[in-house]
Amino acid sequence: MATIETNSELGRQIVEDAKRHVLYSWSVQDAINPIAVAGAEGRYFWDYDGKRYLDFASQLVNVSIGYGHPKVVDAIKRQAEQLCTIGPPMATESRSRLGKLLSEVTPGDLSMSFFTNGGAEANENAIKLARWYTGRHKVIARYRSYHGATAGAITLTGDPRRWPAEPGIPGVVRMLDPYTYRCPAGHPDPCPVCSGGPHLEELLQYEGAHTVAAVILETVTGTNGIIPPPPGYLQSIREVCDKYGILLIADEVMAGFGRTGKWFAVDNYDVVPDILTVAKGINSGYVPLGAMVVREPIAEWVRSQFFAGGLTYSGHPLACASAVASIEAFQEEGIVENAAAMGEVFKVELAKLAEKHPSIGEVRGLGCFWGLELVKNRETREPLVPFNGGGEAAKPVVTMAKHALSKGLYLMSHWNVVMVCPPLNITREELDEGIAILDDALSIADEFVV
Ligand SMILES: Cc1ncc(COP(=O)(O)O)c(C=O)c1O
Repeated sequence: MATIETNSELGRQIVEDAKRHVLYSWSVQDAINPIAVAGAEGRYFWDYDGKRYLDFASQLVNVSIGYGHPKVVDAIKRQAEQLCTIGPPMATESRSRLGKLLSEVTPGDLSMSFFTNGGAEANENAIKLARWYTGRHKVIARYRSYHGATAGAITLTGDPRRWPAEPGIPGVVRMLDPYTYRCPAGHPDPCPVCSGGPHLEELLQYEGAHTVAAVILETVTGTNGIIPPPPGYLQSIREVCDKYGILLIADEVMAGFGRTGKWFAVDNYDVVPDILTVAKGINSGYVPLGAMVVREPIAEWVRSQFFAGGLTYSGHPLACASAVASIEAFQEEGIVENAAAMGEVFKVELAKLAEKHPSIGEVRGLGCFWGLELVKNRETREPLVPFNGGGEAAKPVVTMAKHALSKGLYLMSHWNVVMVCPPLNITREELDEGIAILDDALSIADEFVV
C-alpha cells in the first residue's frame, strides 16, 4: 500500500486554482467543489487531507483495472522511453499489437480498428463510415442514451445534454428505449417497444428503410440508468437491421471490456454488431484512447477506399501500449471472470438492500455495472428525483451521495439512479465495505419516501 502523505494547504490551493482557471465539464461552474486527489491505488483514491475513498464509480465508469496497475504503468514507462510519440502514417509495435489483440478479444469477425482519443470520436467515425458504406444518411439512436459531446455524438445522444447543442447534425432519428420498469409507451410486458424489432420495423416504415444507414445503441445503457435490454431485444434489433441492410453500431464505450462480466456486453446476448465502439475500459483511461472496431466485410470494403478521417493522435504509442498491457493483465489476472463473480455477489447484496430500503424501486445490472433506481413510492414508481431534475429537486440523491462520500465511498448518480460500478478487480472485502456504506446512505434516501 502506498504511503499517504498529507498536505492540506496544497490541497486547498489546488481546488482554488481549479475553480478559477479550469472549466469543468457538465457543471454550473460556481457550484463545483472538486476533491483534490493526491494519489490512488487499487480501488481507492485519496485527498490531500489523507482521506481515502473507495471508488464505486470507477471515476466515469472507466477505471476498470483500478488505479496504478503496475503492468500498465510499466508499459507506459517503457513505451515513453522507446518511442513516446509518432504520427498515424507510421506503423508501431504497440498499435499493431493492439489492433490484433482487439480482433481476438472482440466477438465474431470484428477485425479492424480505427483508434481515437476517446468514445465520442469513435462514435463520430462509426456513423461517418456507416454512411459511406451503406450510401444512406439516417442514423437511428435512442432517447435514454449518451454517445459523447462532439457535434455528431451529442446529436446521437438522447438525454438532455443534447439540448444546448441543437439543432446538431442532420439525419438522426429517435427510437424509444427498452425500459421495462417504465415502458415509454406504457405497454404491459411483453411490449412491442421493449422487445425491439417490432418498434424498429414500424419506424423504418415511416422513415424508409432504404434511407437508414445505422442503428446505434448502448448495448447496456450506462449513464441513463443502467438498463440491460430484456431477453431477445438485441437479437431482434439485429434481425431487423439484417433484413434491411442497416448496420448495427454497439456503443460499448462504457459497457465494454468486462464491465458486464463478459468481455463485451454483446457477448451476453450472442449478437455481433457491425461496428463496435469502445474507450474507457480499453486501458482504464491511463492515457486517452478509444476505438471503432469494424467487421470483416466493412474492413474488406474500406481497404480499397480512401478513408476520409483522421486524428493527429490516432493510435498514439503511449495509449496503445497501455491498452495492450491492460488487455494482457485482464487475461492473466482473470479480471473479466472476477467482474462476473462479483456480479453474482452484487445481485444478492443489492437485492438485500432493496428488501430493506423502501426508496429502492428497482435494482438492475450485471457484472460490475449496477443501478439502483430510487423512487418516492414503490406503488406509483414516482422517481425520487424527477427526469432531468437538478437543484432542490435533486436533493434526496445528492444528500445521500454526500453522506456516502463523508464515510469514504465515492458514488456516481444520475437523477434518481445511483450507479454501482467499481473497478472490475474489486475484492469481496472491498465490495462488502462499499455495500455497508451504501446501506447506511440509503437510509437518507428513505427519508424522502412518501
Ligand atoms: C456510452 C458512452 N458513449 C460515449 C461516451 C463518450 O466518451 P468520451 O467521453 O470518451 O468521448 C460515453 C462517456 O461517458 C459513454 O458513456
